[in-house]
Amino acid sequence: MSFAETYPDHVAGLQRATERVLAEHKYEALVLCSGAPQSKNRFDDQSWPLIPTPAFSHWCPLVEADSYLVIRQGKRPTLVRTVVDDFWETTAPPENEHFWEHFDVVTTEPGHASDVLPGGRVATVTRDPGAAPPGEVNPQELIASLDALRTKKTAYEIESLAEATRRAVRGHRQTAVQFAGGDVSELDLHLAYLAASEQDDLATPYKNIVALGAHAAVLHYVAYQRVRESGDTSLLVDAGAKCNGYGSDITRTYVRGDSPAARRFSELIARMDKLQQEICRRIKIGMRYEDLHDLSHRLLAVMLVEAGIARASTDELVDRGITRALFPHGLGHSLGVTTHDVGMKLRLPRAENKFLRNTAVIEAGQVFTIEPGLYIIEGLLAQLRADGRDKALDLNVIDELRPFGGIRIEDNIVVEAAGIRNLTREAFNG
Ligand code: GLY
Ligand code: MN
Ligand code: MN
Repeated sequence: MSFAETYPDHVAGLQRATERVLAEHKYEALVLCSGAPQSKNRFDDQSWPLIPTPAFSHWCPLVEADSYLVIRQGKRPTLVRTVVDDFWETTAPPENEHFWEHFDVVTTEPGHASDVLPGGRVATVTRDPGAAPPGEVNPQELIASLDALRTKKTAYEIESLAEATRRAVRGHRQTAVQFAGGDVSELDLHLAYLAASEQDDLATPYKNIVALGAHAAVLHYVAYQRVRESGDTSLLVDAGAKCNGYGSDITRTYVRGDSPAARRFSELIARMDKLQQEICRRIKIGMRYEDLHDLSHRLLAVMLVEAGIARASTDELVDRGITRALFPHGLGHSLGVTTHDVGMKLRLPRAENKFLRNTAVIEAGQVFTIEPGLYIIEGLLAQLRADGRDKALDLNVIDELRPFGGIRIEDNIVVEAAGIRNLTREAFNG
């Protein structure tokens, strides 16, 4: 279905839910601010491109500074736009037009928004509290209620994420081709990804992670080198794309070459892919996401033994924190108008899962990533060496894998009543 067909239900549902939230928290109106231009540097006149307040993007894909959405009981939402008469700059028009007709649109001049915004008991939600119009700014309890509305996605949001996934997959395909051809730098691959997914660097949902070889052991590696690498090496690309403000988040790992070490790493990528798919198969409504994360450590322990990396029981590898030294991040997180979407971590994870961003019970309508990994991270291996836990590992194999850095396989998953929909595999196979 098109965005024009799915958006009316999205916005109508948000209106109903927000009216309930306003009544519960006793506000007469909610003002969602897109945000003010952010100066790059007070000695210059350049601003960063706007990344709107996420609660604004939840309603409206417009990316325009100093816009305000006003939501009140029983009234159509109003969209207040600030029209700037400027021959230096302009903002790009939205890529889709489906949302306009759902708002009463009012225009105002810079500095005059308060003239048209409501008075009374108003809650104002903004990324820029310093530039907020009158109202109670970012009240915590109200924000928690709004965050809860982002945990289950509407058909419109799922289709936006599906399109964001298809765009990202075009970028991933192109980087895979360029990498296989050899003699290519991280910067070349980053730029190839942007071109194929038709995005400016600043428009991506998060900065592309493009890591050749040992760099893949840095989980958020964005220091694109210009050195062109030929010969046996690996590539980890963790990159997404946006559609209507919604962002995908996808990782693939590749290896090139025929040396025994490259072949071993290639076999490990295949094992990790199988493990990732097994985790996806285990997703069940009613299960806690943290249990899925714990399960991924047990599956990883089995895989490490089968691959000749570890020699110990599953219990020992998991309970002594050995799998966590090799896979230190969380299994995944909710996706939406922010890459790590809100509302899914109402309770803290257990201490050994401290980087896990999703501790919710799995329900239909959630969209989250499944992204197990395996990395050779010196600082974490040093902790295993310090107390002898490294004896459970074959350090020769670890040495052989070190130049390849690590592996992550990350898909975007929709939980449906009858099972899961894997947006990423769907796009790769489509
Ligand atoms: N790309 C960041 C993440 O996977 O969470
Ligand atoms: Mn992710
Ligand atoms: Mn990612």
